[in-house]
Amino acid sequence: MPLVEASGMLKKALEGKYAVGQFNINNLEWTKSILLACEEVKSPVILGVSEGAGKYMGGYNTVVGMVKGLIKDLNITVPVAIHLDHGSYEGAQKAIAAGFTSVMFDGSHYDIEENLQKTREIVKLAHEKGISVEAEVGSIGGEEDGVVGKGEVADPKECLQLVECGIDFLAAGIGNIHGAYPENWEGLDLEVLAEIQKTVGSVPMVLHGGTGIPAKMVQDAIKLGISKVNVNTELQWAFAAEVRNYIEAGKDKEGKGFDPRKILAKPAQAIIDGVKEKIEIFGSAHKA
Ligand code: 13P
Repeated sequence: MPLVEASGMLKKALEGKYAVGQFNINNLEWTKSILLACEEVKSPVILGVSEGAGKYMGGYNTVVGMVKGLIKDLNITVPVAIHLDHGSYEGAQKAIAAGFTSVMFDGSHYDIEENLQKTREIVKLAHEKGISVEAEVGSIGGEEDGVVGKGEVADPKECLQLVECGIDFLAAGIGNIHGAYPENWEGLDLEVLAEIQKTVGSVPMVLHGGTGIPAKMVQDAIKLGISKVNVNTELQWAFAAEVRNYIEAGKDKEGKGFDPRKILAKPAQAIIDGVKEKIEIFGSAHKA
């Protein structure tokens, strides 16, 4: 199946009260594992690419070529979108030009007027090409690939203003943060989420910082209109743990254990298992 934009799958998710996972990719193994996992359980998927990961993989054109190639060679039939995660104004334009099918413009660090103005411009550019747009208000806490947010709770009025710019889905801070949650984290602010949902109506909402939120809390958020959940750190932990196991067990020193295909076999399987676990929580299996 060719790449798709993301708003169609998220509208379906909102109606069906499940969420589609945005799993961030970091390299070829990551991408292949996510696609295989989603194909196995017949789930639609959004492949998230941060600006840093995009650069690391060679650039946006490389990412688009790699994903298209994998979809064809692995006979992937489920809907797949390539989505820029926390894009800057310039980065979003570059990703659109390179063939991404969805972009996030993260203007949450600008004042609201500038965020709205730049979001409108990105929406115009993207929609001309049939590309979906996510925008953010009330920054997500923690650090994501060099993008640092203070972790504010969004103002429902500003959410509505952003929606009126024509965006396809909305990321609003509701106490979520990227990376590990601190011991004393108070949980998602589901009251604010309910209020935002009432204000923005039928626009799907996005939960960033999907790592480490208890499954039940994620499911409660899905009931309140969250249709996309972003996960990155948790899969990085799973991958790193398997690399550590392999090296600490001295397997790279046994026979041809130094072959990267051997070193990365279990870490890649850990990504498959991790993605399937999340899909189970999000309820997106068999929704492709
Ligand atoms: P985590 O790294 O906390 O899973 O968050 C991912 C994310 O929100 C990407 O935008």
